[in-house]
Amino acid sequence: MADFFSKSWINMRMQYDDAARSDILINFLRNNSKYSDHNLIDMCSGTGSFLIWLLKNNVTFKKNILIDHDTTLLKSVKSNFRKYLKDKYVIKSNSNNLNLILTSKNSNSIDVYVEKSDCEKFNLNENQSFIISYSAAIDLMSKSSITNSLSNMKKNNILFYSLCFDGKVKWSPSHNFDKYILSFFNSHQMTDKGFGKALGYQAIDYLTMKAKKLGYRVTEKESAWKIVNSHEKDKNFMRRYILDIKKALYHMEGIDRSMLSEWYLSKKESIYQKKLKLCVGHKDILIAR
Ligand SMILES: C[S@@+](CC[C@H](N)C(=O)[O-])C[C@H]1O[C@@H](n2cnc3c(N)ncnc32)[C@H](O)[C@@H]1O
Repeated sequence: MADFFSKSWINMRMQYDDAARSDILINFLRNNSKYSDHNLIDMCSGTGSFLIWLLKNNVTFKKNILIDHDTTLLKSVKSNFRKYLKDKYVIKSNSNNLNLILTSKNSNSIDVYVEKSDCEKFNLNENQSFIISYSAAIDLMSKSSITNSLSNMKKNNILFYSLCFDGKVKWSPSHNFDKYILSFFNSHQMTDKGFGKALGYQAIDYLTMKAKKLGYRVTEKESAWKIVNSHEKDKNFMRRYILDIKKALYHMEGIDRSMLSEWYLSKKESIYQKKLKLCVGHKDILIAR
């Protein structure tokens, strides 16, 4: 059984995700007006971060469907929209469900349908065309779930997998145990995270190889987190990042807990001294016909 994701962690990473996201989807939509009537499905939407990012960047779709299997995360979509989009939209909701209607200052309205479902079981309406997004989710997926996601390339649908973790984490200054910790972290990423055995960073190669074999166009761009701990927020984020790594790896078979502790305490000290930089590798991948 997969672990559920922490709401505070997803919300905490939002500003770093926003800074990291590439422009490939925005440019693609700008240069291909035929996609302007598409609707959006955000698979594994969590608390709605990806749609919030789109709307902040003035990328709008009339109908937006957010899908996640975690009700706790979906319940905070409304408060997140109110927090981040209040200057742009009036946000109304029906108290009977999680759905929202967003009306902009120029009276254009957007529907947001929030649905608790397993992404694998969600049936696409074949009469409509969609941009189907997976943000910060591909490394959680198994081979079969990636194959399944590619089967949604019907009609003119587009697939957009953003913030795909590529297995590379660079600390500056580095620590002798960084490689050791990263190899355990990458193994941990290959356990069940909601789709059966996850591919972790290997999901990128698997997806792009499969998509190319199927004859689709694949566009990739870097979207790494580049974090310099110059503000208190950055320090808190890095502290949380190393703490979550420590907690995740602690019970893994074969891990040397004294090395894990030493690594953790050394990073904590470096964060405190304000001298640490962190780069976590991600890629954005767009798949179209
Ligand atoms: C790392 S979070 C990413 C959340 C969001 N997309 C973002 O960019 O902040 C991964 C999300 O995948 C969801 N998830 C994992 N397996 C799922 C499944 N089989 N069906 C639906 N959601 C799933 C989790 O509940 C979680 O919200």
